[in-house]
Amino acid sequence: MTEGRPPTAGSAPLWERDAEIATVAQALDVLCADQTSAGSLLVLRGEAGLGKTALLAETRRIAERRGCAVWSARGAETLRSVPFHVVRQLLQPALLSLLPEEAREYLGDWYDIAGPALGIADPQEGSADPQYVCDGLVAAVRRLARREWPLVLLLDDAHWSDQETLRWLAAFVERLDDVSVLVVVTRRPGEVSGDGARLLDTVAEAAGRSVSNLSALTPDATAGLTRATLGRHADDAFCREVWAVTGGNPYDTVELLAKVQDSELPRSRHRPGNCARSTARPAAADSSTGSRDSGWRRPGSPGPPPSSAPASPSTWSPASPP
Ligand SMILES: Nc1ncnc2c1ncn2[C@@H]1O[C@H](COP(=O)(O)OP(=O)(O)O)[C@@H](O)[C@H]1O
Ligand SMILES: [Mg+2]
Repeated sequence: MTEGRPPTAGSAPLWERDAEIATVAQALDVLCADQTSAGSLLVLRGEAGLGKTALLAETRRIAERRGCAVWSARGAETLRSVPFHVVRQLLQPALLSLLPEEAREYLGDWYDIAGPALGIADPQEGSADPQYVCDGLVAAVRRLARREWPLVLLLDDAHWSDQETLRWLAAFVERLDDVSVLVVVTRRPGEVSGDGARLLDTVAEAAGRSVSNLSALTPDATAGLTRATLGRHADDAFCREVWAVTGGNPYDTVELLAKVQDSELPRSRHRPGNCARSTARPAAADSSTGSRDSGWRRPGSPGPPPSSAPASPSTWSPASPP
């Protein structure tokens, strides 16, 4: 378990995410060690259900334990056309905590430019130059980040962010050299095209080697998760069947196991005592998403077909996407 910590109430361990959590912990070490250190950017890429939101929740937990301020926001498919929606959400804690005169002081010359985009100042007459507004927002967030050190910004489902936020993000992450902040962005591959895709590519380029492509769980980890959920008596054939049905997608696996639990289907095709113990171990605890029913989308590949006559898991079919 990460940092020797037992799962917190309502949390479930994350399997096979040690590398990602170690990267986060390392970035937080750097952030917290020195206010003059350069900022850093991590990008977590993965299809629906692979655990992006769960990893952000784990990031938040580790960061808050170390005394960081954590601001977060999430792209929403239905709000993509609302300008600045996500960046406003991200800065909400700062904007709420500042008195109007403080906001004016912190944003300085940029107040009149960035203020309307952030919803804290009335729009100026005429339409503002988008590039100028973007520059203003970058400057504003850099000032706020310096004020809040150590600060972590979490942006979930960036592929569903509005264009103005993506434009800000792409510009902001290119200027992290002299502002000590950790930015963690999650996104699905695909889902966005045109300018949005180009801006997300710019973000990925800025992250360089700090882009993690999340993988599905191996059969071993799926067996571990199955036994952690249903009990040690879930036998090898049953666990293998769970993996065959879900392809190791954590969301699908959690959903399937919940259905098995609810329906009290048999967890074994053999004697319960035959269960071999999995050697895979979970990486960390998670409580965030909770998400048996949060934002589920069927991944592109449903995984390999069942290898044998259907055992109980293969009678399961996933919930309809919302
Ligand atoms: N590595 C993992 N091990 C066990 N459960 C996981 C893991 N990753 C995600 N989960 C669980 O799977 C579900 C979906 O995860 P989520 O983070 O919402 O996926 P995403 O954001 O990529 O769509 C959640 O219930 C989460 O707790
Ligand atoms: Mg998610």
